[in-house]
Amino acid sequence: MKLLFKDAFINGQWHSAINRRFKVTNPATQSVIAEVTDCGAVETRWAIHAAHEALPAWSALTAAARGKILQRWFELIDEQAEALAQLLTTEQGKAIAEARGEVAYGASFLRWYAAEAERVYGDTIPATKSDQRITVLRQPVGVVAAITPWNFPVAMITRKVGPALAAGCTVVVKPAEDTPLCALALAHLADQAGLPAGVLNVVPTSDPAAVGETLASDQRVRKLSFTGSTDVGKLLMKQCADTVKKLSLELGGNAPFIVFADADIPGAVAGAMASKYRNAGQTCICANRFYVHASVATRFKQSLVAAVADLVVGDGRVEGTDIGPLIHQSAAKRVRDVVNQAVQAGATAEPTWVVKDSNDNFVPPVVLSNIQHPEDLHDVELFGPVAPIFTFTEESEVIAAANNTQYGLAAYFYGKDYAQIWRVAEALDYGMVGINTGAISTAVAPFGGVKESGFGREGGKYGIEEYLVTKYLCWQL
Ligand code: SIN
Repeated sequence: MKLLFKDAFINGQWHSAINRRFKVTNPATQSVIAEVTDCGAVETRWAIHAAHEALPAWSALTAAARGKILQRWFELIDEQAEALAQLLTTEQGKAIAEARGEVAYGASFLRWYAAEAERVYGDTIPATKSDQRITVLRQPVGVVAAITPWNFPVAMITRKVGPALAAGCTVVVKPAEDTPLCALALAHLADQAGLPAGVLNVVPTSDPAAVGETLASDQRVRKLSFTGSTDVGKLLMKQCADTVKKLSLELGGNAPFIVFADADIPGAVAGAMASKYRNAGQTCICANRFYVHASVATRFKQSLVAAVADLVVGDGRVEGTDIGPLIHQSAAKRVRDVVNQAVQAGATAEPTWVVKDSNDNFVPPVVLSNIQHPEDLHDVELFGPVAPIFTFTEESEVIAAANNTQYGLAAYFYGKDYAQIWRVAEALDYGMVGINTGAISTAVAPFGGVKESGFGREGGKYGIEEYLVTKYLCWQL
């Protein structure tokens, strides 16, 4: 397999000397793809040291020089896009067409931040004394720890590393234990692009708690950016408190998807398919709860079920597959259990559902309606290809239901009345709102949540702010 690297990448070197390795498996077949260097606290401290040593020279480069390397990294990813997509599907499971999409999406952060490096502006402020001048600098925060998830093994790295490097920071990446191979392939391409030693380090591990704690507690790391579960985010927040690190947390979601009575139903179904079934339902911004106005509920549900019936489930490496495996057997079991329980309580699962248990990672996509115990599904982050449909009649009722969660990442709604669109968009307590669309992700816009979905933004001009600190200079003339 092309682009297969199995060792830690620290200070521009591949480290295989460490006498511990862990297995990375293909979730479609559960066969072992590679045995990867297993970093612990010691190796993580080497990586922090390397990043710390590399920081002065990297941050002293001109923004244009840093941007040029980022642009070259983008180009190399683009040249190797097919190999990277194959690797991504093999370790993560998503359909190959989606993996190609993710590689392009991931690379787009590097292209965007290559240019954005040159747009980090400071300020001049009219002083309060005639013999003084006030200027404001924006400087890199320092060494960054990036802890990334398995559901987007390329894009969640570039979305953090792109703006961090553009800002002049150096980085230690701890990729998810399920998907370290894409991270290592990205490190190889960054090295080829001319990134100096120590500027980007990747520490794969089967012990995320130990490595996470090391990154969070080290005084030299000045910023930690994490994408993953709310529970782990809260733990990292506590661990970062002692060194008062700057933090960005992109945590869990519980996205409502509302269809109003006047909505374009074919459009809403297309949006629901894009939002719900992308990555087999394993995204933090997946529609998690469908609220459909009672007057259009049957039409919406029938069209959605028909579209779901056309989805091809299987090994993501096979062209034409739409829904690959879930990441683990335990993840698949959890999702099956949710559906089994709802069906046993009287819900309808369509197009087909056989109450079953199984040892594989595949879960057939379903639509759930006639749900007897809505409260059981309201707070579950499904992370699987399951679309529960509830009905409503009043706008105020659906807004209250949509907001009744500790999460606040993404929400979606479909409707045509522009006054209602403004009202609902403003009333939804979420960091991102898709209006008549189910696909909101792009490198140019601020991705992130409110409430227990976290804080900080990734993407667009907001994303680089997370890696900068403000310095005020007071000049006495
Ligand atoms: C996520 O929700 O996990 C990331 C998805 C995205 O960037 O589109």
